[in-house]
Amino acid sequence: MGCIELLSYDSFRDYVAPYKKVFIICGYSSLASCCSDLLDSLRLQGISYDIFSEFTPNPTTEDVDRAIEMFSNDNYDAIISIGGGSAIDVGKCVKMFCHMGTEDWENKLKSVKCVEKIPLIAMPTTAGSGAEATSFAVIYYSGVKQSVSAKELLPNAVLFDGRCLSSLPLYQKKATVLDALGHCIESYWSVHSTKESKSFAETGIRIILEKFEDYLDGKSETNEDMQRAAYLAGKAINVTKTTAGHAMAYKLTTLYGFAHGHAVALCLRVLWPWMIRNTAKCCDERGREYLEGTFDELATIFGCKDAMQGAERYGKIVGWASLAVPRFSEEDISVLTNSVNPLRMSNNPIKLERADIENLYRGIMENESR
Ligand SMILES: [Fe+2]
Repeated sequence: MGCIELLSYDSFRDYVAPYKKVFIICGYSSLASCCSDLLDSLRLQGISYDIFSEFTPNPTTEDVDRAIEMFSNDNYDAIISIGGGSAIDVGKCVKMFCHMGTEDWENKLKSVKCVEKIPLIAMPTTAGSGAEATSFAVIYYSGVKQSVSAKELLPNAVLFDGRCLSSLPLYQKKATVLDALGHCIESYWSVHSTKESKSFAETGIRIILEKFEDYLDGKSETNEDMQRAAYLAGKAINVTKTTAGHAMAYKLTTLYGFAHGHAVALCLRVLWPWMIRNTAKCCDERGREYLEGTFDELATIFGCKDAMQGAERYGKIVGWASLAVPRFSEEDISVLTNSVNPLRMSNNPIKLERADIENLYRGIMENESR
């Protein structure tokens, strides 16, 4: 896996110094609140740029086609993606698919191969998705979510500017920090976890637990800590991918319009204690004892004495965030259960049957009054 260079504004200037023209992908809100220093810096260095902003929050293949069309009209030395996961994922898709032209997505998605060597610089404007640290991207084709993956999609460099987080609405701050925390937790127990991924996840959790209250209180000196935690969480899932919590959460966002991290937190709050009670169904090759040790380690990282207390502390954090809890109809439960991606489930260390998933969705509603 490649190495990402972490940049400050000073090192960014050196990094882009050889470039003549760059292609910037940036949503309108980030353009207004986060880009002035970066654009000033490029102008002062005589680097010209074009900005592409015509993409949706859940980027589609049509969005990427528009970006590729613009990108193909000129010679660019680098792509700079500024924003949350969406802008960074569009940047990754432009890099991956620009040599293949537009349209014919059926075939392009079948034979994902990145040949383009153009550097990709990511500047995250939230602290959550971790897209700046992963070699995969999410894109919607004909309304269906597709995950594209290639090691070349890992950004070459990441520029952190904590000031970008100050203008985020509180709900978005809560949801993104819970997404990053969810990445750390799921990565930690994933069947693909390694010593290294666990270390990324542990450090991410420790930073979030120490700083999240101040961060949500608007103490801006914690912003870059949160960006670092989200980046580490991204590095962790880049090794392990996410597990059942994310697999269960995706449909909640489309059915109820919840932010992704909100949906993940609702699912993890019921999933974690259920997993501790069901280690007999362990499917991690390292065995049940190893998995129970992992739950104990997670509890210790959360400052708790035993596994269940760790899960409960997490539940209290989610409760403290006061997120809306949906009421599901029986039909909703069926739709939600059918939506769960089996591939993500296969990363989970405990096998979930259909009835387990249904019961967990019902369990989400029991937390309504908290
Ligand atoms: Fe996530």
